[in-house]
Amino acid sequence: MRKQIAAANWKMNLTLQQGEQLLNDIIATPHELKENQQVVFAVPFPYLAMAQQKVAGKKNVFIAAQNCYNKKSGAYTGETSVEMLQSLGISYVVLGHSERREYFNESNQFLAEKVNICLDYKMTPIFCCGEALNVREANEQNAFVAKQLEESLFHLDADAIQKVVIAYEPIWAIGTGKTATSEQAQEMHAHIRAAFAAKYGAAIADNITILYGGSVKGANAKELFGQPDVDGGLVGGASLIAQEFVAIISALK
Ligand code: PGA
Repeated sequence: MRKQIAAANWKMNLTLQQGEQLLNDIIATPHELKENQQVVFAVPFPYLAMAQQKVAGKKNVFIAAQNCYNKKSGAYTGETSVEMLQSLGISYVVLGHSERREYFNESNQFLAEKVNICLDYKMTPIFCCGEALNVREANEQNAFVAKQLEESLFHLDADAIQKVVIAYEPIWAIGTGKTATSEQAQEMHAHIRAAFAAKYGAAIADNITILYGGSVKGANAKELFGQPDVDGGLVGGASLIAQEFVAIISALK
């Protein structure tokens, strides 16, 4: 049975004290996580150690970095290596979020290198993909997302690809309050799974976790996560409110 994940993406929000409080509030609420269900918090770099300590020993709860660099170590002032993250006990890294693609010019090729280094260090990439509004309006979203997957992931072998988590985040739904309908999400998730099936076979495609992101909240999570190919969510705004994120966790199927 493939993994289901409720992942929080704090982005560049909260002070250390606010982050600590938020984690305390969420962790204090008991969750009935099934064996294949996980909760992941992608927190800003300066809070990774604090967050890792808070979840240490908590079953199926993990901390993610929001980014990493594509080099092992060296003279790259201001960057963070996967080896550093690993030494903190971090196990997930969000890669290729649309904000990084847009504001930091991260290309599919550059992301392929980041995917590789994460896998070299046994870290799980949460690889983000998704189209902008003009692409959707031109009805070219399927080809656009397929290209992102091909250029960043399809060099991986069958074993490695199953270690990657996908997050489909239509850019027009991020932070806009405009969620994709559950039909739109399911349609794209099925398309992504079909692309993996065509490349790696149906059994492997069936093992790959595909999250939906873009204005997920407590009120719509159940409907979205109820779709057959939606295995949870990557949540921005609503993950900053304990009550909302707790409702999202309990919406995992
Ligand atoms: P949002 O962000 O939930 O605030 O739309 C999602 C994301 O960017 O990961």
